[in-house]
Amino acid sequence: MIRESNSSGIRVSELEIVRLRAQRGPNYWRLAPVIACDIRLGGLEPLTSADLPGFTERLLAAIPSLHGHPCSRGRAGGFVERLKEGTGWPHVLEHVSLELQTLVGADVEFGRVVPSPDGASWSVIVGYEQEEVGLESIRRGVDLIRACLGGEPIDGGALLSGLRDIHDQVRLGPSTAVIVEEARRRGIPVRRLGTGSMVQLGLGCYLRRIRATATDATSIIAADIAQDKDITKQVLRNIGLAVPVGAVARSVERAIEIAGEIGYPVILKPLAGNQGRGISLRLDDEAAVRAAWTGGAERYGAMVVERHVDGRDHRVLVVNGRVVAVAERVAAHVTGDGSRTVRELIEEVNRDPRRGAGHANLLTAIPVDEGTEEFLAAGGRTLESVPAADERVFLRPTANLSTGGTSIDRTDDIHPDNVTACEMAAGVIGLDIAGLDILTGDISVPFKQNDAVIIEVNAVPGIRMHTHPAAGRPRNVGGAILDMLFPDGARATIPVIAVTGTNGKT
Ligand SMILES: Nc1ncnc2c1ncn2[C@@H]1O[C@H](COP(=O)(O)OP(=O)(O)O)[C@@H](O)[C@H]1O
Ligand SMILES: [Mg+2]
Repeated sequence: MIRESNSSGIRVSELEIVRLRAQRGPNYWRLAPVIACDIRLGGLEPLTSADLPGFTERLLAAIPSLHGHPCSRGRAGGFVERLKEGTGWPHVLEHVSLELQTLVGADVEFGRVVPSPDGASWSVIVGYEQEEVGLESIRRGVDLIRACLGGEPIDGGALLSGLRDIHDQVRLGPSTAVIVEEARRRGIPVRRLGTGSMVQLGLGCYLRRIRATATDATSIIAADIAQDKDITKQVLRNIGLAVPVGAVARSVERAIEIAGEIGYPVILKPLAGNQGRGISLRLDDEAAVRAAWTGGAERYGAMVVERHVDGRDHRVLVVNGRVVAVAERVAAHVTGDGSRTVRELIEEVNRDPRRGAGHANLLTAIPVDEGTEEFLAAGGRTLESVPAADERVFLRPTANLSTGGTSIDRTDDIHPDNVTACEMAAGVIGLDIAGLDILTGDISVPFKQNDAVIIEVNAVPGIRMHTHPAAGRPRNVGGAILDMLFPDGARATIPVIAVTGTNGKT
């Protein structure tokens, strides 16, 4: 609720946006994208922030972090000095927009205010990362300035959390964000298409497109092969790489037959599954296969039945024919302290701000659901059990990040023979970016010496396990992908010539 006018008779609604747009490419003000907002001040035109007692205090109470803005003074507090001395409303809007965007996580600094040639309005120009967030920061900024002018009570927290919700809805997924950040660092123009993860890098004939770790050169056939765990294994086996023995079953009888041929223990997993869904590990006999089949396998139709292989989960990322990162993946777990329950320990782990639902965050929250309870029950525990101090309790059967797993960087440990094997695997499948899932007791030992196997190849692999490992060195996977898309010396932009002038004369 904003009062129409305050005690000094100022009509706050005279401060109004007359035009608001995002300039997505190189533009009049800057080579990088900006939000451009034309505002009219009406009766506020001759006034400054110093003319309205309480304005500065109300604004700073709503967004306390404005205290840090240096502005033209080049030191923290500079902007507050300008406010107190008296500065124009467009300038205030510029700072408010930049600060609101910064507070929700954008890295923006560029801001400028210019009068329109006819003197009727002002243009406020600010940088942005997410278009919707940039536009909304201006709209909310104007509302906030009006409220401060009108002496309205202001809920700065609500203002910000609304903007944060928009940011969370529109922000790029973590893999795309990593690639986009690297492109920006290299000065390569970035333009997002739509609200998903489809992004254009570069301009004109040098333009490349990505979506997460899929590129415009990722082969559809290769991705289809990777999607089928059985065909993948055939292709890998053809060039002598070790994969688990097994076959595809479409009925429980066939599953039992296959298990009998290859020997127990076996695992069951969906032929076209992902993210660890629908997997039954370590089935020791016919009864266990039957139980797993009726307990869920039916819904997937085709299931891979293969030998259960012991070993730790590893992910090897191959970009453009080269291994660029290796991670060991550790299933979701908690470590006991002798007093708290498993449930309390999970809550503690999930308080980590990096953890969120699904794939949108750097880490995924550990789910507390049937799957967790079942897995605990198999080990004779419940969510209310109290593990001993330093005791590690696993919560899921598989190490997929999407069920709360974490990763340890092992890039420096992988044996050179294994590097060759992985590069051959990605090459034979035909993927420009491939994530290989490998079971081995130790990635620094040649696969052939410790019965390691490649269990699947992922097209469009997630990369957060390499860029944000729970332990070990983060790897600049975005850099490797950009090197592939724009190899040394390759151009990313074309000359842009703009012709401007008055309608009818140019
Ligand atoms: N043959 C196997 N032996 C032992 N564990 C396996 C086997 N196959 C899969 N797993 C386990 O299940 C997890 C998921 O299997 P995977 O084939 O990678 O499917 P998804 O596409 O769901 O990730 C693996 O990371 C591994 O921990
Ligand atoms: Mg996998």
